[in-house]
Amino acid sequence: MQKTIVYFNGRFLPKEEVRVSPDDRGFLFGDGVYEVLHAYKGRLFKAEEHWRRLNRNLHELQIDGVEVDLLGDIAGELLRQNGLEQGQASLYVQVTRGTAPRRHAFPEPGTPPTVYLSASPFRPSPEKWERGVQVILVPDIRWTRCDIKAVALLPHVLASQQARQRGAEEAIFVREGVVTEGAHTNLLAVFDGQLVTHPLNCHILPGITRAVVLELSRELGIPVRESPIRQAELQAAEEILIVGTTTEIAPVVQVENWTVGDGRPGPVTRALQRAFRERVTSSGR
Ligand code: PDD
Repeated sequence: MQKTIVYFNGRFLPKEEVRVSPDDRGFLFGDGVYEVLHAYKGRLFKAEEHWRRLNRNLHELQIDGVEVDLLGDIAGELLRQNGLEQGQASLYVQVTRGTAPRRHAFPEPGTPPTVYLSASPFRPSPEKWERGVQVILVPDIRWTRCDIKAVALLPHVLASQQARQRGAEEAIFVREGVVTEGAHTNLLAVFDGQLVTHPLNCHILPGITRAVVLELSRELGIPVRESPIRQAELQAAEEILIVGTTTEIAPVVQVENWTVGDGRPGPVTRALQRAFRERVTSSGR
């Protein structure tokens, strides 16, 4: 069995040789950010958008010293060294504020960040995309910087575990009666033929897949509205879909104990899935 090669602080090495310090601020405080990208036949989908988001997140958290421009080449090398240039793969990128004695405030200027990248095979679940998935609704107990893709994911972990225990695919957060997003996906719903999703603000992650889906909708002539969806309105949705890098576009056919529409993926979702597939297979961009 070939060893998994990862990138850690400037070196390519077998994964089991990576040593993260117990003083790493990612370990102690969850003080870092991450990205997940999807490669189709060795090409990273929407790489520029992911690097831009990472750059912005690093800037927001004032983590300096990361050469984001080099990450694309490192990612390509990881795909190559792990034999992942065919088929589909997931790329994980994490940057923390580095290693320093435990104090809440930032370490000395110049403390190098910890940079970690790994690649793994991605196994699609076509049955979920075909038949659709079930979701549950949970209170959104997160902070008010959900626009930052922080590694501190405790609310997401707890919500995902609740979903799993109830046999659901995803947990959808509800903040003050408004449906924000899933624990690892953005949510969209169709009302009167119009695709509606939460506007970009501090309560949701600006999902790359969400942006692609909105772009595809406009190309397909599907009207789009970015405005809050109230939990009370959700039951009137003709279609509901969750989207994300590792989910792509999954139809939601059941929410809690009620059925969405006739319980089958609807025409808007189907059209978007087809267009998405076309986009990732034709250009890979
Ligand atoms: N999820 N919202 C949250 C809270 C997320 O964690 C993610 C990503 C998304 C979708 O964003 P994007 O389309 O950029 O992946 C929304 C992880 C990375 C996943 O895809 O599993």
